[in-house]
Amino acid sequence: MTHGHAPGKVILVGEHAVVYGRPAIAVPVTDVRADVIVEDTNGRPGVTIHAEDIGRVIDVCSAPLQEPLSLTVRNALGHIGMDVQRVQLSLTIRSSIPVASGMGSGAAIAAAMVRALAAHLNYPLDRAIISSIVYETEKIHHGTPSGIDNTVVVFEQPVYFRRGWPIATFDVKRPFWLAIGDTGVPSLTKAAVSDVRAAWQRDPERYDGIFDQIGALVDAARQAIESGHVEVLGALMDENQRLLRHLDVSSPELEALIASARQEGARGAKLSGGGRGGSVIAVIEPEDAETISRALVAVGARKVIVTRVG
Ligand code: MEV
Repeated sequence: MTHGHAPGKVILVGEHAVVYGRPAIAVPVTDVRADVIVEDTNGRPGVTIHAEDIGRVIDVCSAPLQEPLSLTVRNALGHIGMDVQRVQLSLTIRSSIPVASGMGSGAAIAAAMVRALAAHLNYPLDRAIISSIVYETEKIHHGTPSGIDNTVVVFEQPVYFRRGWPIATFDVKRPFWLAIGDTGVPSLTKAAVSDVRAAWQRDPERYDGIFDQIGALVDAARQAIESGHVEVLGALMDENQRLLRHLDVSSPELEALIASARQEGARGAKLSGGGRGGSVIAVIEPEDAETISRALVAVGARKVIVTRVG
């Protein structure tokens, strides 16, 4: 029996613009995680996936080619040089990462699956390879993903990500705290990404201008984090949220959580991930964590996670 796991993630600044080659910053959230157990079945050949949280059992050999969990198994075994018909394995998946919440649940589950399979079959895969396998699964989930989600959940460090550039990690000079509030409304990232693309195609000049402004905020946010200026980071997140509204990816539920966090003293707040639903993140002082968490629940948050960055 072999275990593999991977954390959740949030995007601090830069979602959507990152799909268009601008930078973004994401951090792992280790308070939630996906866990996968691989076992030998010594039964009939093939791989059976037990996705316990959603009550599904999937036979990889007979699953549709585009089914994300079985695609992940096939791609991982392909890298390891094994044929799915020739192994006798079962995978059990459990995850505490809220689904469709902008916290990278799909990427984390895929990363945990690949890690568990590689460890079980005694075939070490380096992080860049694991990330590339998870990226293939992300394409099914998100259509045209930037690659930021698979990178941050596999590397498990704060990343400054730019599509096609080498992965850059950076120092967090002074730790800071985030309250992450889940609206409970599913964030349909694929639809949001595809709507932003359609809008960009209609008016590239306007949207490229917004993406450039977001990219500049990301660079300023990196400087703020590297120099320990949390209050500056908060203001940059507020500004990022203003631009995300222009991209039409916010929602009344997200706005209610953002307003409430700001009212209770958060330094800045924004949606995180695909938007339209999913989670908001607020930069907070640790002593305000309880008040802000309660306020978020009072305006509709299903779950609040308070996490430390750095
Ligand atoms: C999703 O977590 C972030 C988006 O920027 C999409 C992507 O980068 O693939 C909305």
